Amino acid sequence: MASEAKEFEYRICCLGAGYVGGPTMAVLALKCPTVKVTVVDINPKQIERWNSEKLPIYEPGLDEVVKEARGRNLFFSADIDKVVQESQMIFVSVNTPTKKYGVGAGKAADLKYWELAARHISKVSKSPKIVIEKSTLPVRTAHAMSQVLNCNKSQTGYSHSILSNPEFLAEGTAIQDLLKPDRVLIGGNQAEQDQAAVRKLVWIYSHWVPKERILTTNLWSSELSKLVANAFLAQRVSSINAISALCEKTGADVTEVAKAVGMDNRIGNRFLNASVGFGGSCFQKDIYNLVYICESMGLKEVAAYWEQVIIMNDYQKRRFASQIIQRMFNTVSGKKIVILGWAFKKDTGDTRETPAAYVAKHLAAERAQLSIYDPQVTEERIRKDFVEYGVLEEGRFEELATVETDPYKACEGAHAVAIMTEWTEFKEYDWEKIYQGMQRPAFVFDGRNILDLSALALMGFQVYGIGKPLPDAVDMDKPGSGY
Ligand SMILES: NC(=O)c1ccc[n+]([C@@H]2O[C@H](COP(=O)([O-])OP(=O)(O)OC[C@H]3O[C@@H](n4cnc5c(N)ncnc54)[C@H](O)[C@@H]3O)[C@@H](O)[C@H]2O)c1
Repeated sequence: MASEAKEFEYRICCLGAGYVGGPTMAVLALKCPTVKVTVVDINPKQIERWNSEKLPIYEPGLDEVVKEARGRNLFFSADIDKVVQESQMIFVSVNTPTKKYGVGAGKAADLKYWELAARHISKVSKSPKIVIEKSTLPVRTAHAMSQVLNCNKSQTGYSHSILSNPEFLAEGTAIQDLLKPDRVLIGGNQAEQDQAAVRKLVWIYSHWVPKERILTTNLWSSELSKLVANAFLAQRVSSINAISALCEKTGADVTEVAKAVGMDNRIGNRFLNASVGFGGSCFQKDIYNLVYICESMGLKEVAAYWEQVIIMNDYQKRRFASQIIQRMFNTVSGKKIVILGWAFKKDTGDTRETPAAYVAKHLAAERAQLSIYDPQVTEERIRKDFVEYGVLEEGRFEELATVETDPYKACEGAHAVAIMTEWTEFKEYDWEKIYQGMQRPAFVFDGRNILDLSALALMGFQVYGIGKPLPDAVDMDKPGSGY
């Protein structure tokens, strides 16, 4: 211990070794070699995976960062008590899912895991800690958590500081986002002890983040900003998706519209790709959280405004599935439909709230035969998602679904292919070869607008792209059916 004390000038730990805790702490350790960083989790299997050659999550660049820092100043441990005791700063990056029971079910954030983590820290700590909210939390959570953390203050004679430091990384680009963040946000109370904690966290980040990108605010602004950032991003996706439906009726092309609109500097071009809809563990959950907070504060109109973003997203997923069914002559029963991509976006194996599951559910209800391929998602995960998202009840997977490890095999004898994730490799396939092996007419439904649909149409495919004009709708004299 004595030699270790010399080796490390500071000790940090993180509760929660998930999609956020793992990569965030790996980059922190990489950039702060004199700081000891230990990631802990209540799930010992998750820790085993972080200590193995095959990491529990897929992120470009993550393996390299972990390999460099692990064993040097980055550690993964299941001994939560010991690690908490020896750490001066504790990040809490546990899951905060949407509540499934009781008051606020379906909307409010379930803070059970966060509160348990805070209780744990309070119980085992033997010195004051800087506790950092890394999870996304409802505004004013720190107020409640501070009470939990400091419930023993009268016996111990000291209190723990609580800061908000929400994580803005996006899965698929997490390492780049962490290495070069647009901004780092740190919220803290005005009390001197808390401001000292803010300075300590600023010191950590300033190892690699330019000072002007480190923003310090009050606690509530910081907590709320994370929810607002996700709501704004999701709102852009829903906005362009709403327009995609209008494009299909009018002969406008959503890609052209998005380009024209996005070239306006005031608007910008990011997050304007029309698609089957957003997924992932955050957008929907965080917007529901925002909606719930607004409702609880009596702001009905504000709540309804933000809820519309989710309503539009659900509409888009449903609309895509309906297009498949309608265009295949209103029946997909017994037809083989290939689901290309199961992850909620490219460059991740994460499938939480993936649109693929929602589309699969609609198609399974129509008794389509589903053949699924994803370059990163395991069959085990897909089978679990079938049950979790109600695609098919437990034990019925084989009736209507298969998972393939070769995309060409997945497409053999298929009636249609539906692109559900924007994986780059899908663009590079030999589509002529795929066409040759499919039934006629062969359909392609591009839920991400990544394929060259004109080229596919020339090969003979019947094509559908989100927000793309129907073949005869571009001609002024032959307006589309909804014109
Ligand atoms: N995934 C993202 O892209 C992303 C981005 C930004 C913010 N966030 C937010 O970060 C938080 C974590 O998200 P995630 O995707 O990493 O979740 P996750 O489910 O991948 O990981 C959470 C981990 O916390 C562990 N855990 C739960 N209670 C614990 C406890 N008391 N002590 C130690 N470990 C505990 C779980 O076992 C799990 O491994 C959420 O609030 C989320 O909204 C997520």
